Amino acid sequence: MQIVLLFIGAYLLGSISFSYIITKGLKKEDIRKLGSGNAGATNTLRVIGVGPAIGVLLLDGLKGMIPVWAASGLHYNMTAAIASGAMAIIGHNWPIYYGFKGGKGVATTIGVFVVASFIPSLISGIFVILLIAATRYVSLGSIVFMILTPALMVILKTIPYDAALCASLIGVLSIWRHRTNISRLLKGNERKIGH
Ligand code: G3P
Repeated sequence: MQIVLLFIGAYLLGSISFSYIITKGLKKEDIRKLGSGNAGATNTLRVIGVGPAIGVLLLDGLKGMIPVWAASGLHYNMTAAIASGAMAIIGHNWPIYYGFKGGKGVATTIGVFVVASFIPSLISGIFVILLIAATRYVSLGSIVFMILTPALMVILKTIPYDAALCASLIGVLSIWRHRTNISRLLKGNERKIGH
């Protein structure tokens, strides 16, 4: 019963869309009708600017961190902790408060991965920051992060295999949410940051 409440709480927490709230507050508009239409930090950067985007990145990331901390505090194993984080990501992607139209779960996934397994997330994060700086494609960096971090969890054996499998499924979910970005990347017309 406790784990069910934790999952529901994580979903409700994940459903709070900080990009929506901040854009509504500062621009009086629905972020889902601006830029790429995605309710996330990258689109906040695009439509408002660096400061609000960093705020969204941190707050959306915290939504992923809290359920993993909570599950660990309640002595659940790492797989259950990551599954709790996955519920926050599902909330972010399909938020109950905003008509189930949310984001791609990148910042929230980063939050889950950082708490679940720090070293793989750090290595992957540094690589991805360099990749984004070189290409200016945030979506490409996000997709690489979703593949590289679970792979490093397995290679470095930082968490049990079933927990790493759970992290991989989260990665697959986010890559699927990026399917329109992937199609634009392949066609060469994906949006670059700073343009
Ligand atoms: O934060 C999601 C990012 O990977 C892509 O966002 O707005 O360019 O579709 P966007």
